Amino acid sequence: MRISVIGCGYLGAVHAASMAKLGHEVVAVDVDPVKIERLAAGEAPFFEPGLPETLAEALASGRIRFTTDMAEVAGSTVHFLAVGTPQGPTGAADMRYVDAAVASLTPYLTAGAFVVGKSTVPVGTAARLAAEVSAAVPGATLVWNPEFLREGFAVQDTVSPDRFVYGVPDGDAGQRAVAALDEVYAQALAAGTPRLVVDLATAELVKISANAFLATKISFINAMAEIAEVAGADVTALADAIGYDDRIGRKFLNAGLGFGGGCLPKDIRAFQARADELGVGRSLGFLAEVDAINLRRRAHVATLAGELLGGSVAGRRVAVLGLAFKPNSDDVRDSPALDIAARLVELGATVLAYDPAANHTAARVRPEVETVDSAAEALRDADLVLVLTEWAEFRELDPRVVADLVAAPVVLDGRNCLDRDAWTAAGFTVRGMGR
Ligand code: UGA
Repeated sequence: MRISVIGCGYLGAVHAASMAKLGHEVVAVDVDPVKIERLAAGEAPFFEPGLPETLAEALASGRIRFTTDMAEVAGSTVHFLAVGTPQGPTGAADMRYVDAAVASLTPYLTAGAFVVGKSTVPVGTAARLAAEVSAAVPGATLVWNPEFLREGFAVQDTVSPDRFVYGVPDGDAGQRAVAALDEVYAQALAAGTPRLVVDLATAELVKISANAFLATKISFINAMAEIAEVAGADVTALADAIGYDDRIGRKFLNAGLGFGGGCLPKDIRAFQARADELGVGRSLGFLAEVDAINLRRRAHVATLAGELLGGSVAGRRVAVLGLAFKPNSDDVRDSPALDIAARLVELGATVLAYDPAANHTAARVRPEVETVDSAAEALRDADLVLVLTEWAEFRELDPRVVADLVAAPVVLDGRNCLDRDAWTAAGFTVRGMGR
């Protein structure tokens, strides 16, 4: 099938490469010439396991091309919209990239073409854009097909997702859109991936409510961590125990620094803002609390660090292990780890930070946080060790080796990811989160 992908960020770059890998003819467009040049040269613009290989395979097949020229999408049957919807100044999603993408795509649409939205948008956006598209090009149809990929597993989640959701209009156009998307995703569908056909508004809501639920689950366990801390309980044991109930499930019940990244934090705020506009703000009132619990975790770590250093971090040497918002990523957007490192610098600590992938991205937004090239360099002569992203490299550190490097054997495990017994046996004072 001839496909275009508009927007080559996280979502678009992975989607475009994966679609070519599946055998489709893909043209991928972005307004950023540097990004396009790098992708065309087979260079992934961000750290994502499996993407360089998928991209190389796609380029070698000759089935993908990258361009800044929108005119090249002409002739594609399916046009995926994969541009960003960042947080605007009021918390609501900034729709300018989506609107601009649709406006610049419209001149190249033909009757029978499908515009398929993948971006996370405020409910109601698809209906508005669908009207614009069919007014401009009678016979062209806009549908919504939200994406659920996780960073770190983006290729796998794109090629074999948990489910497909197609938001389509009633009638023939909707049926034709379903048939077109079935062709795009034929391989995963043949392997039994569930596919739900819904209306436009439901498709938009599925995406944002899934993220709101995940954020709520994380803040729930972090609220339990706050209680466990004052009650003298262990939130990790609590999560294990409640997680055995199938209705609850153990996944996304890891207490720690809370959620960050380019999706969960901005999505819960955008969802609240949209509910307010729709006059049902109270329905999502709890999301303000979810956000507040989440942000409290960061302040709490800074306070704990001061306590562990006898009252203040000022003038003390702190090793920060991890800056990315989660492991297997170089993404530091709204990263709790980077936020905490910057707070400690502001409080006067001498911070040496190391992340296996995110040093360069962190340096761009928080140049005041000094980064080093290895965990050992960060750890040398440290008065306190903070583990802020649960990379395997940190989980697997030998505490006896670390003990020889640091000035004082004190570790704050912000992700409850270390083997407490082993670190204690090596002479460390180990402070976890909510335990
Ligand atoms: C999230 C969703 O999980 C995806 O399904 C969705 O497609 C994506 O947003 C999106 O909207 O594009 P992602 O941002 O890659 O994916 O990250 P997650 O794996 O959800 O992790 C988010 C944050 O929650 C991370 O900072 C992670 O450390 C934190 N987290 C996760 C916890 O603090 N505890 C947990 O138990 C799980």
